[in-house]
Amino acid sequence: MCGIVGYIGHRNAYPVVIKGLKRLEYRGYDSAGVALLNGGLKVHKKKGKVADLEEATLGKNLDGNVGIGHTRWATHGEPSDRNSHPHVSNNGELAMIHNGIIENYASIKQELINNGYQFHSDTDTEVLLNFIEDIKINNQCTLEEALRIALRRIVGAYCILLIDQNDPETIIAARKGSPLVIGIGKGEHFLASDASPIIEYTKEVVYVNDYEIAIVKADELILKNLGNEKQTPFITKLDMELAHIEKGGYDHFMLKEIFEQPQTIYDCLRGRLLPEHDEIVMRGIDNHIDSFLKASRIVMVGCGTSWHAALIAEYIFEELCRIPVEVEYASEFRYRNPVINEGDVIIAISQSGETADTLVALESAKEKGAFIFGVVNAVGSSIARLSHAGAYTHAGPEIGVASTKAFTGQLAALTMMALKIGYKKGTLNQERYTQLVRELYAVPEKVKEILTDTSHIKKIAEKYASASDFLFLGRGYNFPVALEGALKLKEISYIHAEGYPAAEMKHGPIALVEETLPVVFVATHDSYYEKIVSNVQEIKARKGKVIAVATEGDQQISHMADDVMFVPACDEIIAPLLSVIPLQLLSYYAGVAKELDVDKPRNLAKSVTVE
Ligand code: F6R
Repeated sequence: MCGIVGYIGHRNAYPVVIKGLKRLEYRGYDSAGVALLNGGLKVHKKKGKVADLEEATLGKNLDGNVGIGHTRWATHGEPSDRNSHPHVSNNGELAMIHNGIIENYASIKQELINNGYQFHSDTDTEVLLNFIEDIKINNQCTLEEALRIALRRIVGAYCILLIDQNDPETIIAARKGSPLVIGIGKGEHFLASDASPIIEYTKEVVYVNDYEIAIVKADELILKNLGNEKQTPFITKLDMELAHIEKGGYDHFMLKEIFEQPQTIYDCLRGRLLPEHDEIVMRGIDNHIDSFLKASRIVMVGCGTSWHAALIAEYIFEELCRIPVEVEYASEFRYRNPVINEGDVIIAISQSGETADTLVALESAKEKGAFIFGVVNAVGSSIARLSHAGAYTHAGPEIGVASTKAFTGQLAALTMMALKIGYKKGTLNQERYTQLVRELYAVPEKVKEILTDTSHIKKIAEKYASASDFLFLGRGYNFPVALEGALKLKEISYIHAEGYPAAEMKHGPIALVEETLPVVFVATHDSYYEKIVSNVQEIKARKGKVIAVATEGDQQISHMADDVMFVPACDEIIAPLLSVIPLQLLSYYAGVAKELDVDKPRNLAKSVTVE
């Protein structure tokens, strides 16, 4: 979704802002723009990529030590030059960029039109900007005060950066529900939607909170709340290196991130899973163990891939902890007025920690007294901060739009949580606990084994890349893996794919089966194995093409399937951590075979910060 970058200091702002926008390209966008303060206000914007904007600015005067830049993911109004940000206010003095949605923009726009304002775009951002200008003129107040008044009137979410040609020494920023990070340099400040544009300049950052306004000068950062009271900026040290956000020799971020999984899963387990002591140390759980032991139910919320991780965790928690688990799409949970009782435990799962649907769902559950536990990848993100406690997944920055290493990080963290709670609760006996702790510890090595040679998966992907539809089937712990495989293929290769529990096939989807339909079975050796073998036979009897993910050495599946991708043997509770890897690779290679932009699939955004 929209990316925001700002710079104020001793450097030339334009290259810093452009480089920052490129670092944010992974979020998904359709146009880009910059505004510079350079003896007046200079604005350049363009539909398309940041490179198109650069081309459009060739030969122009791009000097100035203050700049703001934006990549836009269209919400109000089509992608076009005129709808791109920054927008300029009617008197030409203010420029603003915005990430989020102003819900009551229509009524404010009408008010402004009645006051003689004209609009040059279809955006809600231009309405907010002129609203600020109107307040400033009518109240004869400072820009900061006008902004404060405006923000109290608007409904919606925002991260905004605002500059005024009459004050070339200040950027004013504000946030509610949409992230903003400020990097602290020596005599300079960097502002951005996430830390990736900042990391090469400084590791000291301040995460701005909701309802805060930042007044940013080259050598000063003042934070205030909407009541004009000063807030103390809390400086955090980034635990991230530049190499984490660069491709490091891989063709795509997605491939790099798939191959990073032995390390990222290990990083998630490191210091927590201690097989030599048969122990799991997770401070978030240890400090709140009573909430889990007393919970009469757990509700897991998330979206997309994170929702799939929740579905797998539902099976694991119910098996090991004997606590009823409900899994909810965050967007539905929020709006259907769910029953939430005090003492319910809500586990929120999110890579970015900024997904608007998940965030709003949690806010309302928190208001109703639920205990919120976040399983989040992005350190310091909104969901992490809103949660009462949590466990970071430690997968590192995920740049490819399609989630891969974040998913296995979520599974590793959730599995550890279930093991720990089940053992404490006594629903998981010592012997099984010890066995599962060791199995989980062995996962990074087993993932490494799968990744040793992926050429056969590439060939399978190339063989089926021209198919128009795919079915993905699995049972038990592997059923959500089938859903994840289908989602990945859709996102990356634009091939229509459906995921189902294998037994559901007979209740409808089997009507689709014919010679041209590839059916992917996630059929590792588990307690559902005999049943899924029967399902494979049903597809073969109807001449469907079977691609199987199977356990190494499985002769039976090998003989039945047209193509097989093997994974090492493991306990069924651990299986999703392995069986998903060939499916990630299958969709990656299918996307590459179709010459698609696998890191930035069309219409998708990395961090979905609007509801
Ligand atoms: C799919 C994907 C999305 C996200 C979803 C939730 O590959 O990445 O489905 O999983 O948008 O995002 P987070 O986990 O950031 O809340």
